[in-house]
Amino acid sequence: MFQTAESASTVCRRMRPSDLDQVVRNEEISYPNPWSKRIFSDCLRAGYECWVIATRDQILAHGVLSAAVGESHLLTLCVHPDVRRKSYGRRMLQHLLKEAIRLGAETCFLEVRPSNESAKALYYSLGFVQVGERRQYYPPERGSTFREDALILCKQLV
Ligand SMILES: CC(C)(COP(=O)(O)OP(=O)(O)OC[C@H]1O[C@@H](n2cnc3c(N)ncnc32)[C@H](O)[C@@H]1OP(=O)(O)O)[C@@H](O)C(=O)NCCC(=O)NCCS
Repeated sequence: MFQTAESASTVCRRMRPSDLDQVVRNEEISYPNPWSKRIFSDCLRAGYECWVIATRDQILAHGVLSAAVGESHLLTLCVHPDVRRKSYGRRMLQHLLKEAIRLGAETCFLEVRPSNESAKALYYSLGFVQVGERRQYYPPERGSTFREDALILCKQLV
């Protein structure tokens, strides 16, 4: 059971290597194709915007964004299942978009599964619009050959 006192104060801070075990555990219970510790380590080394919302000892949410030459890409966004629908996802995304603007990005792109209603609702509520799709983008889940398409969403930042 995830122990989070509702009153525990949370901070939005940069991800550290020592966060990665918890971050990967949160990914594994959230995604059919979770990112590995190696991928997060590479993102930290590459200087991507890697952030967490955390209490003193628990990671509630994490997000990774890359920004270069006027564009940014949201690469992952995840909230622990026990604390969803408490605005941590929105708070993390708004923070990453501010960082993208600070880094000179004028747009933000992301991919989302058409079946991911909660993520789509979050993105649309923050002004993302669909600009395309990628056919059979996601790897099949274990025991299946079905590859889900991805919707490409974009938000104009400035
Ligand atoms: C998508 C995700 C990040 C949302 O995080 P969250 O903290 O639960 O979302 P928030 O509480 O910030 O919700 C913000 C808005 O998103 C929408 N939303 C979030 N969850 C929703 C749900 N289950 N059903 C419908 N709308 C939802 C609503 O518009 C909500 O605003 P409201 O609460 O004022 O109505 C979270 O569900 C998650 O980690 N999912 C698994 C990983 C994932 O799919 N990531 C996105 C990959 S593209």
